[in-house]
Amino acid sequence: MKALILSGGRGTRLRPITYTSAKQLVPIANKPILYYVLEMVAAAGIREAGVVVGETQQEIRMAVGTGGDWGLKVTYIEQEAPLGLAHAVKIAQPYLGSDPFVMVLGDNILRDGIASFVDEYQRVRPNTQILLSKVKDPQRFGVAGLQGDRVYSLEEKPKVPKSDYALVGVYLFDHTIFEAVGAIRPSQRGELEITDAIQYQIDRDYVIIPHVVTGWWKDTGRLEDLLEANRLILDTLESRVEGRIDTHSVVEGKVVIEGGAELVRSTVRGPAIIGRCARIVNARIGPFTSIGAETEVVNSEVVDSVIMEQVKIVDIEGRMGESLIGKNVQVYRCSSSSATLRLMLGDNSQVGIS
Ligand code: DAU
Repeated sequence: MKALILSGGRGTRLRPITYTSAKQLVPIANKPILYYVLEMVAAAGIREAGVVVGETQQEIRMAVGTGGDWGLKVTYIEQEAPLGLAHAVKIAQPYLGSDPFVMVLGDNILRDGIASFVDEYQRVRPNTQILLSKVKDPQRFGVAGLQGDRVYSLEEKPKVPKSDYALVGVYLFDHTIFEAVGAIRPSQRGELEITDAIQYQIDRDYVIIPHVVTGWWKDTGRLEDLLEANRLILDTLESRVEGRIDTHSVVEGKVVIEGGAELVRSTVRGPAIIGRCARIVNARIGPFTSIGAETEVVNSEVVDSVIMEQVKIVDIEGRMGESLIGKNVQVYRCSSSSATLRLMLGDNSQVGIS
């Protein structure tokens, strides 16, 4: 079975980070989200994956390469614009051929992976298998209308949801999906929706089976969800110290300190990860914090955050939390004594000041 991994799109909900970086490459516990997806696919026994790419393709190609690191043979499929999940299926048909395949959204992570769903599909062989998860805010997702175990409707981001069951970004299809994606028309937001394609199958009595996911699932498209995924993944890490901790520093709980990193007169409370060659001086880090490679945190406190590479956080009074900081950002206290804030922020930046 082949996989189709969707790594195109614009990532508007994570701007400004996604002006310069693909949203699937934002790191969680210092590893790009897409790598977790590739790991899930490989762990399901899949060896060939088509990766759909859009305007950020250069970066995705650089990060994933041939796929050999995951034992995968990766083929890139260019999508001219993010015209919808069903559009991605349509353009991937020549690559996928007529065998069943699993489609995975490049920004979705499931605690328990996808192997059991792939196995179930191979055993039962429905036309389509969808994954569902009970959520508090179904309006933000594709939502299934259910009668017992039967799916009678699928709607994309409905104002009045028919249930609390959201569509998880993992779908198993046989070749009949190509008829459906060829027949549907773009939605009001101008996309070919995969929910409409599956609805087309429901209306024609194709066999659709739902499977409710029990372990956690995260769509990392929004800041809150990304931070939550960071918390969940950090909690699964095994402690490991490869960097240097001076005698005045304290490390508590599950903490990873990568090679070349240095802790000087600092406290790191796990779960947390301190990236390669990072410098933490007179600072407090964590819990639930990822510090990227070559980042410096000096005289500051950072909790519950994802801080990317080569960032400098210096002399910040109070505590920084619930933050996502992109590469090369500098956050520092000015020497001027006035109460003036000095900012250089790109479009769509967000700053919370108390
Ligand atoms: O995360 C689950 C949800 O994912 C489902 O509940 C929804 O039914 C489904 O439509 C989808 O909703 P999102 O609004 O989260 O989709 P998003 O536009 O974020 O795209 C998901 C991934 O697919 C993302 O990694 C970008 C990629 N993509 C998206 C589009 C629209 C493509 O590669 N090509 C595209 O044309």
